[in-house]
Amino acid sequence: RYSRQMKTGKDTNMLFIGVDLGTSAVKLLLMDENGKIKKTVSREYPLYFPHPGWSEQKPEDWYIQSMDGLKELLKDEKKEEVAGISFGGQMHGLVLLDENDEVIRPALLWNDGRTYEECDYLNNVIGKDKLSEYTANISFTGFTAPKILWVKNKEPENFARIKKIMLPKDYLAYRLSGVHCTDVSDASGMLLFDVKNRTWSKEMCEICSVKPEWLAKVYESYEVVGTLKKEVAEELGIPAAAKVIAGAGDNAAAAVGTGTVGDGRCNISLGTSGTIFISSRKFGVDKNNALHSFDHADGTYHLMGCMLSAASCNKWWMDEILKTKEYAKEQEGIDKLGENHVFFLPYLMGERSPHNNPNARGTFTGITMDTTREDMTQAVLEGVAFALRDSLEVAKSLGIPITRTKICGGGAKSPLWCKMIANILNLKVDKIESEEGPALGAAMLAAVGCGVYGSVEEIAEKMVKVVDTIEPDPSIAAKYDEKYAQFKQIYPALKPVFDVIK
Ligand code: XUL
Repeated sequence: RYSRQMKTGKDTNMLFIGVDLGTSAVKLLLMDENGKIKKTVSREYPLYFPHPGWSEQKPEDWYIQSMDGLKELLKDEKKEEVAGISFGGQMHGLVLLDENDEVIRPALLWNDGRTYEECDYLNNVIGKDKLSEYTANISFTGFTAPKILWVKNKEPENFARIKKIMLPKDYLAYRLSGVHCTDVSDASGMLLFDVKNRTWSKEMCEICSVKPEWLAKVYESYEVVGTLKKEVAEELGIPAAAKVIAGAGDNAAAAVGTGTVGDGRCNISLGTSGTIFISSRKFGVDKNNALHSFDHADGTYHLMGCMLSAASCNKWWMDEILKTKEYAKEQEGIDKLGENHVFFLPYLMGERSPHNNPNARGTFTGITMDTTREDMTQAVLEGVAFALRDSLEVAKSLGIPITRTKICGGGAKSPLWCKMIANILNLKVDKIESEEGPALGAAMLAAVGCGVYGSVEEIAEKMVKVVDTIEPDPSIAAKYDEKYAQFKQIYPALKPVFDVIK
């Protein structure tokens, strides 16, 4: 390792901060230059659902909670050693600023389903072929471009005030550094970005009435964009020379954190959303655009399937319905894997991959008089795993051979859920030391940006160690294969109902 000691002869260490601007909370992590996690802190903020299927947050909450969390993170630490800070963030969210840099309206988030008319216009009037040619992707309700069109169509007075467009983590970086920047992985999810050539798409900006000057300067995820504002550095007590590194969308950042870099590696994230992420050195698009084709934070590309409600299904079931915080206790009695006759469709916010249907809804199916609380909890966990398998099946149909995966996110803390994933997806699940995917990945990007490591692949190679592997059990996996065949029939059967009850 090229530590500062080796470069300067002085016995000093560098510290790096990774910020994961998530949907339920901001998670902050302090890492030393050897990759040791010294401390983590998290701060929650509200999520607003002003109408069914809408999802918003206040950018000011992100800033206030991040600053508060940063102060807690740095308390009693050697603040003067902080050399760099970087970000992973919830993707696709639309932050609009006016000429005074004021936020125009609450941010529309990645799991917001209101833009179905704009998606219909983009996919069917402009046409999926053109979208795919310009951006490598088609329109999904959560993506940024249809949100911009929605504001244009439904809130013209707000549209007229737009001077800057930002993604969530880039808004935070802007408040901290004053630099209007983004990175290739997060920009990929806007549907305004030419993923293959890693640059804004002029055609898409014209189609969406986006003026070029509204857009951020684009960086690779590990590049330095500037330093902290003087007043921010003073408030946090860290050197004004501390570098700000572009960072990545949370899934790409999580992939860095789990060492899912280079070619053909897989990571599953069980956060508010559930994603299956496949790294690739080659640019590629599947012919139906069922998986997203985005730039990766290591300078390469990736494919990704994203379900809108993953760990959030269990959180909803525990917090709102069972009214308990004892997540682990609720899972204790669950041991008959592959034998549950209750099914759960996890579409509490509609669904993105692979159904692309904002009207899809959550359901329990197969309940009988002998159904227990444990059966229903089990069904919730299994429903998420079955829905992840839907995206895995798309990847497999493209001829991508996947036999093992890393796993991260809050849901990965549950040994039972990891075992279900291994058996339902029939994959070896490699656990690494920390589940802090995006925050760790962001800190690693900061270390690369500060020159401590030569590349993202190099730091991932040196830092990420697998500590345990959960192997699928052939007899359980076979039972789950049968259950998956049944699960697959529920959504198509209910789809006409979802269209009626929307
Ligand atoms: C990815 C996506 C989600 C969010 C969650 O396309 O929409 O995974 O990034 O934060």
